[in-house]
Amino acid sequence: MLFARLPILLLTAVLLPSFVEAGLFYKNSSVKMLDAKSFKKVMRENQTSIVAFVAPWCGHCRNLAPEYEKVAKSFNSLVPLYAVDCDAEANKPLCGQQGVQGFPTVKLFPRGSQAPPIEYRGERASKALFSWAMGQIPHGIRRLKAKSDITKWVEQSSDKPHAILLNTSTKIPLLWKVIANKYSHRMKFGSFHDEGGSYFGSLELEDNSKSDNKVLFFAPGSADPVLYEGEYAARCTVDHR
Ligand SMILES: *[C@@H]1O[C@H](CO)[C@@H](O)[C@H](O)[C@H]1NC(C)=O
Ligand SMILES: *[C@@H]1O[C@H](CO)[C@@H](O)[C@H](O)[C@H]1NC(C)=O
Ligand SMILES: *[C@@H]1O[C@H](CO)[C@@H](O)[C@H](O)[C@H]1NC(C)=O
Repeated sequence: MLFARLPILLLTAVLLPSFVEAGLFYKNSSVKMLDAKSFKKVMRENQTSIVAFVAPWCGHCRNLAPEYEKVAKSFNSLVPLYAVDCDAEANKPLCGQQGVQGFPTVKLFPRGSQAPPIEYRGERASKALFSWAMGQIPHGIRRLKAKSDITKWVEQSSDKPHAILLNTSTKIPLLWKVIANKYSHRMKFGSFHDEGGSYFGSLELEDNSKSDNKVLFFAPGSADPVLYEGEYAARCTVDHR
């Protein structure tokens, strides 16, 4: 079943190959350097990523680098951060295509090449960039307000599987947003604030997990959920630093 493979797919997607060093970032950096070829490859993934177009000689780029690095660490690969050295001859066509006119130019690609990039024009500080980027992930998650909304929502598009995250918090975790963005073409994603777990309790599903995070999965056309018992809950705890 596709859903059982989701965390594995996600993990494979976030473990990207390391690229060469470019002066501003160490080889061991969480920020990976891209060239035209790897840029294209990255853009094939339906995920939110951030690309800084830089030049090694640029002072503002040097100032940005440690802040940018912090953002990359905070996102912990869930939203990968890249840099392109526009000073390198081979990268000039790419930087030209991207309309880069000054350094650094930071762009967020909401969904690979499937959505137009958004240029970051805020303060070049990690906190500002991080919270801005958090709000730009086009996750399309339906926030379900009442138990009765869940059934209605599942029936609305009975051709697709549905997955709901039940959480005791009203916030949608980053990991759920990232998964929803990546797989939105295959299934519908929802979120339900299950205060005290009363909705989950009413379903009388067998549950051996200790986590309060539950992921329910509805097969296409089915209104009977199954409990997804994967690594999701464990992975979910890495997302808020
Ligand atoms: C990365 O490499 C640099 C220089 O070699 C070093 O100072 C730094 O501690 C390393 N960082 C990590 C997280 O390994
Ligand atoms: C990305 O999404 C599109 C539809 O929006 C889909 O056709 C394509 O297969 C997806 N690519 C990946 C790598 O999942
Ligand atoms: C619920 O969501 C919050 C906010 O995203 C997250 O920190 C937390 O781990 C999730 N799980 C529970 C049980 O609240």
